[in-house]
Amino acid sequence: MNYQTLLFEPRDGIAFVTINRPDKLNALNDHVMLELADAAERIATQSDIKGAILTGAGPKSFVAGADIADLSRQGPFDGKARAQRGQGVLRRLETCGKPVIAAINGFALGGGCELAMACHIRIASENAKFGQPEVKLGIAPGYGGTQRLPRLVGKGVAMQLILTGETIDAQEAYRIGLVNKVVPAADLLAESEKMLRGILAMGPLAVRLAMEAVDQGLEMSLDEGLLLEANHFGLLAATQLGKALGQISGTLVLLLGANTACVTERDRPGPPQVSFTIDDTTVVSSRTDTVSGSVHVVDPDGIDSVSVTVGSE
Ligand code: COA
Repeated sequence: MNYQTLLFEPRDGIAFVTINRPDKLNALNDHVMLELADAAERIATQSDIKGAILTGAGPKSFVAGADIADLSRQGPFDGKARAQRGQGVLRRLETCGKPVIAAINGFALGGGCELAMACHIRIASENAKFGQPEVKLGIAPGYGGTQRLPRLVGKGVAMQLILTGETIDAQEAYRIGLVNKVVPAADLLAESEKMLRGILAMGPLAVRLAMEAVDQGLEMSLDEGLLLEANHFGLLAATQLGKALGQISGTLVLLLGANTACVTERDRPGPPQVSFTIDDTTVVSSRTDTVSGSVHVVDPDGIDSVSVTVGSE
């Protein structure tokens, strides 16, 4: 699909998706939603895309809501259909199996706030503003706001925001737990990419199953959720340990003095050259040794990325 209202830029495993209607503050009309559905599907299914960052074009707005022109024309039946279509798009993004960060660069109102809430992590610029102003227009949130907002910030605060339609700033959004982090506007994309690349350095299967456990567990009883978690835990131990032992014997690295490390082999199959990433510091070494402790493959599709636990796990 050729996008007219989105920019979709895959770069080193990350899809940078920008809602691109800055003259309308990136409001979500039906066309944007159609393209967003396609983008969500690509994120979910394209193997070269490991995660995504979603933002809005221009300095002023992430998304200023559903397009009021569309809303003004709708009746009860097409209104319900529009809500369900939009809910489906956001749910596809939320369950795409890969981490999606909303980089909120301004207004996140109505459908914009709802879109941000369907992402797994929200990073806001200092000028971001949040709200569910639908009641002021005589309607109510339709893209999941009444469901995700209370799950994120609690019923009482969600009620207040939805019933008053008030707008809150980034610091208040951080205080109530609506966003994970607030950063200067100039750093928003870089900070979002840094966090996402950190997540992508972990095992994709581990990340996927952890997201799934959180997402599904919230709808389960505690006992059901704990069982789901234990099943994932066992599955990860089985798949990753087996693969690690089968594929990387003899070439691993012992990292002395740290409990965990990320190890990436470069230039296989030449002389071993290995870079460790420990707390964001990369150390390149050619030392190889025997691993004691447990070994987990981080990237189940390849063998060039492993994490090594040394010592007493
Ligand atoms: N749908 C359609 N168009 C929108 C829009 C929306 N949700 N939000 C903003 N726009 C358009 C405006 O109509 C305007 O277009 P125009 O220049 O062709 O007239 C353009 O974006 C710029 O908006 P403007 O209102 O001039 O900017 P502002 O800085 O004065 O105000 C807002 C910014 C966000 C406070 C204001 O645009 C607003 O209240 N928007 C509606 C928010 C809303 O209720 N969203 C929930 C909908 S359910």
